Amino acid sequence: MQKVGTLSNGVFMPLIGFGTYKIRGHEIISSVTKAALQAGYTSFDTAAIYRNESELGEALEKFLPEVGLTREEIFITSKLSPSDQGREKCKEAFYLSLSNLKLDYLDLFLIHWPGVKNLKPEDPKNRELRNQSWASLEEIYKSGKVRAIGVSNYSVAQLKDLLQHASVVPHVNQVEYHPHYLQSELKQFCCSQGITFQAYSSLGTTVKESPLLQDQKVTSVASRLSRSPAQVLLRWATQQGVGILPKSTNEEHIRENIQLDFDLSAEDLEALSNLNINKKYAWDPLVVF
Ligand SMILES: NC(=O)c1ccc[n+]([C@@H]2O[C@H](COP(=O)([O-])OP(=O)(O)OC[C@H]3O[C@@H](n4cnc5c(N)ncnc54)[C@H](OP(=O)(O)O)[C@@H]3O)[C@@H](O)[C@H]2O)c1
Repeated sequence: MQKVGTLSNGVFMPLIGFGTYKIRGHEIISSVTKAALQAGYTSFDTAAIYRNESELGEALEKFLPEVGLTREEIFITSKLSPSDQGREKCKEAFYLSLSNLKLDYLDLFLIHWPGVKNLKPEDPKNRELRNQSWASLEEIYKSGKVRAIGVSNYSVAQLKDLLQHASVVPHVNQVEYHPHYLQSELKQFCCSQGITFQAYSSLGTTVKESPLLQDQKVTSVASRLSRSPAQVLLRWATQQGVGILPKSTNEEHIRENIQLDFDLSAEDLEALSNLNINKKYAWDPLVVF
């Protein structure tokens, strides 16, 4: 079951997207894209730094007709590399992502990270350059080449700063979010500003033994409901209206991660949220001022 969420500009963004971080190479991208489309995913999340945009573009071109979908029926997100922050570089990087993906427009483009590659976190140029990137994204948005723009890994302070000189309020903030890392203040702030809060690393990133997937509470809810721990973690987010981007190279997992047509009880939702230990499994944006 695929649910959709409306961004503040009226654009629909599917609640479930397919994550592609660390999936690289023609063959694997081709097979997972095919499997994801066949399983029902209509949204794909990539980034310049994932170095898989070209392969994803090729795979979409090839398999969309096979599953009977048109370009307008899918939602493609890419992101600005931290090495391309700044007015001109951001514009060039956007058009490079667009051409790598072999598309005429993107559905969503995000500033991947509030910092700039090779700058120290305390360097004030981080702020200056990311604000220039935002001004560039506003221009691209107004030109119609992207349907929505946003940020990723921004803190409340970074969002407040951006909002001071933005003419377009970011449509999305894509951040790490799961029962071990709630970021409640950030979530509330995004909600108050009409910024859609989208979760990444819902399953605890690509690690051999994910503490999230192995959390006792998660596994006990899963076995009681005859669902997998991954499905419980993903449903915990979507039931709150939070978008997710599960990543997998395993076809069974790919199918399972979109089958979220069950409800967690209010008690289970609360018990899962109570697992918060403020533990990040991906990179930490709070080191960037
Ligand atoms: N904006 C950002 O800074 C940022 C940062 C991180 C991630 N993201 C986005 O969010 C996506 C997801 O986050 P992530 O890549 O960190 O990983 P994730 O989705 O949290 O976890 C991926 C891991 O979970 C395993 N897995 C997937 N489905 C499973 C299932 N049903 N049962 C058991 N294990 C399962 C995968 O292994 P198998 O392949 O074996 O299934 C893989 O090892 C990324 O791919 C990317 O698109 C964005």
